[in-house]
Formats: sequence, C-alpha cells, structure tokens
Amino acid sequence: MDKKIGKAIDILKAGGVVAIPTETVYGLAASIRSPEGINKIFETKERPFFDPLIVHVATLDQAKSCVKGWNKICDEFAEAFWPGPLTMILPKEEHIDDKITSGLDTVGIRFPSHVTTIELIKRLGCPIAAPSANKFKKLSPTTAQHVLDEFPDLMVLDGGECEVGIESTIIGITDHNVTIYRPGMITKEMIQDKIPSTIEIEYQESPVAPGHLKHHYQPNKPLILRIEKDKLQHEFKKTNKWKIDEQPIQVARILYAKIRELDREPGEAIEIIIPEKMVNDEAYFGILNRLIKASYLKSERINPEY
Ligand code: TXA
Ligand code: MG
Repeated sequence: MDKKIGKAIDILKAGGVVAIPTETVYGLAASIRSPEGINKIFETKERPFFDPLIVHVATLDQAKSCVKGWNKICDEFAEAFWPGPLTMILPKEEHIDDKITSGLDTVGIRFPSHVTTIELIKRLGCPIAAPSANKFKKLSPTTAQHVLDEFPDLMVLDGGECEVGIESTIIGITDHNVTIYRPGMITKEMIQDKIPSTIEIEYQESPVAPGHLKHHYQPNKPLILRIEKDKLQHEFKKTNKWKIDEQPIQVARILYAKIRELDREPGEAIEIIIPEKMVNDEAYFGILNRLIKASYLKSERINPEY
C-alpha cells in the first residue's frame, strides 16, 4: 500500500485524479492546489460545475486553514465526530478555488477516518477535493470493484469495503443554529446531544446541493419502495425483492452493494420493502433519503420528517 500511495501522490501532484477509500463511500480525489485535477473530477463524473465538492482533510489545523467562522460548535463536533462521517459547511478562505465551491462563499469540510486516505492527504501535504466516485446521479461505490466497474482506467486505492456505506451527514453551522442539508448515519439526535438545547437544528433541502435533486443515487432498473403492508400498482411482472429487517448500521453498510446486486438480477424492477417503523425512526433517515431519491415509485406514506 505504501508504494501505491506514493504513486497516487505522483498522479495528484501531476494534476490527475485517483479513487480513494473512505469510511462512507469511495471518493474521486484531486489536490485542492491543482485546478487541472479539479477540472478532471467534473469531467470524469460528468458532473455539472454548479455542484460543489467537499474538501477532505487529515488534521484539524488543515480544516481550520480552509474556513472562516470556526466556532465552539465546530470544536464540539470535530471532537465528537471527526475523523468520521460528518461534513461541516462553513464560509471559505480565499485560497479555496471557486471551482471547488461552484462559486459559493462556503465550503464543505470533512475529516474522513480511513487510514489509507488520511496517510495520502498527510503525505501529499494538502487537502484533497473529492465527490463520490460515481457518474453524476448514479449509485455511490462502496468497494474498489464498484469504482472500476464504472471507471476501468482509474487508479483506485483499494481500502476494502466501506464501513458506513452511505455518504456523510452534511451540516451548515452558525453561532445560533445548525442545518442538516443531507441526513446520514450521524443523526440529528447525535448532533443535538453535543450542543446546548438552545441551539436549534433543522432539516433543510439545500438548493445548491444536487444530492438533493429529486432523482439521484439511481440504479439502472426502476426501484419500487414500499412499506410492508402497502400494495403498489405497477406494470412490472417480476421484481427483484429485498425486505429490509436489519439494524440501521447494517442496512447502510450493505445498501448500495445490495441495490447493485438486485439491479443485475433478471427481474424488470427492484422492489424494496421496509417495515412501517422505519419511516419515522431517525436512525434510518439517511438510508430513507437515499432510497427515496433512488426510487421510481414509492408508498405515499414514506415521507419522513426531514
Ligand atoms: O461521504 C461523503 O461525503 C462522500 C465521500 C467521498 O467523502 N462524498 C460525497 O460527495 O458524497 P458528493 O460530492 O457526492 O456529495 C457532496 C454534496 C453535494 O450534493 C454537494 O452539492 C454538497 O455536498 N455540497 C458541497 N459543498 C457544499 C456547499 N458549500 N454548500 C452546500 N452544499 C455543498
Ligand atoms: Mg455523490
């Protein structure tokens, strides 16, 4: 792995991109100092330039050097959740390229916990920008093979299966409130637990975050999402079914690999069946968010409170 990281650094320094393991999903990385590399991320993913990238750091100092407005709340969250699956959106420092933030004056910062990527960033000597390593609107990869299936020519640092399995929780922070832009496995309750109850936390769809586009995370086959007892009218004769009854951590970990597997089976559509209790259980909100966006048809009652 040592040599491979060395090779990845050479590619990043030369303005290229490499796929990296994180605890959430694999990322497609470029050095934040390389405008050429940043461009290549958008080209490779076929991602529109209005969709900003997350900056990944390997130390707290690096995080602070990218943003303005780091406050006590940020300290609490960094202490509790970093390294780990939380992205904080804060006003950006001037040196962060506008291409990374799509011209916004804020930047998303994340300190991932995968050892390979931490070592890569440390040895590179600067943060990396990295969206998920999939084509725009498609499912995120949780193994090196998933990345190679879509991008056979890419250099992938194989860090095994991603432990968390869905993308990080994204939050915006001011002195007085916290906004959850994308739910994930770090839940509202976990976040609230770290700050005074006077600070409000709200869910909000971010107009600038296309992770919030209505359709995203899409498999090739239409995905039907229904609560156990609901019957949904549809035109498909045979569907590839998965009845979810695992705990949230387990569901998140296998979610994308399982959908890929169902996508390859012979039926015409994918049918995911969830227990009633899942709809308003916050621990599943990140998972439901991805499933709803991946769905072609869903039970109307699947409308969680986020
Ligand atoms: O777990 C993750 O966050 C993974 C791994 C690779 O770290 N990354 C990831 O990146 O999911 P991406 O680009 O696929 O999704 C990041 C989302 C996008 O929807 C983007 O629009 C939003 O974050 N975002 C990035 N910067 C933002 C900003 N300044 N304001 C609002 N949304 C932002
Ligand atoms: Mg993505």
